[in-house]
Amino acid sequence: MTIATQDFEIRPFDAALGAEVVGLDLSTPLSTSDFQRIHRAHLDHHVVVFRDQRITPAQQIGFSRRFGPLQIHVLDQFQLPGHPEVLVVSNVLEAGKPIGLGDAGRFWHSDLSYKEKPSLGSLLHARELPAEGGDTLFANMHAAWASLPVDLQRKVEGLRAEHTYLARYAELQARSPWRPNLTPEQIAQVRPVLQPVVRTHPETGRKALFVSEHFTTRVVGIPEDESRALLAELFAHSVKPQHVYRHQWQPHDLVFWDNRALLHLAAGTPDHLRRVMYRTTIEGDVPA
Ligand code: SIN
Repeated sequence: MTIATQDFEIRPFDAALGAEVVGLDLSTPLSTSDFQRIHRAHLDHHVVVFRDQRITPAQQIGFSRRFGPLQIHVLDQFQLPGHPEVLVVSNVLEAGKPIGLGDAGRFWHSDLSYKEKPSLGSLLHARELPAEGGDTLFANMHAAWASLPVDLQRKVEGLRAEHTYLARYAELQARSPWRPNLTPEQIAQVRPVLQPVVRTHPETGRKALFVSEHFTTRVVGIPEDESRALLAELFAHSVKPQHVYRHQWQPHDLVFWDNRALLHLAAGTPDHLRRVMYRTTIEGDVPA
């Protein structure tokens, strides 16, 4: 069966990154040429916002899978029933119990950088949006690398840093109902890993800083105080306003970002307003 090509536009944002796709319907399979256009836009703009997607979780999973195998989040408590590939990101409590991970993205991070194979990309679908708040910020780590002073570039290139899921877990657990105690099986899934401080994007060949305030705990091979100061300097530089795009969600947006090129942050939602999002993550390569 031949799949018809759709008539859609890709409009870059006037920002450090990002583009919106208007007129594309992801509830039907994409033709090869449409898929290639989207793939290219994702590499060029790092965040692609598909407007007005009335898709089911199964359709989100199907589209996400075209980019690679999907990853299952360690917090299996927040899987969408019947769809373990979907992590529910939500601040909603039902009968006092969280229906999803309410503080996902509370600190700047790249998804699953604490795994040997971090996420290539993530897709977040807006199911229910608050009347105010709930924005997501993205920082361009290629731009962060390119604008780093040359002496600092020389200093960090070739260094490796530890990434740990548990780095700020206790801190998050102390302030919210969304962080259950982890079982020994869950802890075994998130052993610390070493990642390059500067990675090369496997598809574009562009360099990017690859450290985050959420998961990066130390740079290996240098004294601890030096490592702390270096990471603080790199974090502060990475998220300077000129590197950042702030996404204000519209109903039914599906946002697809490139974790190999970006950090992201959830700005937060007022407690009395509901926000429900479905996230899929695609496995990437071993960073180099
Ligand atoms: C995330 O970090 O995946 C969640 C981002 C958001 O909820 O805006």
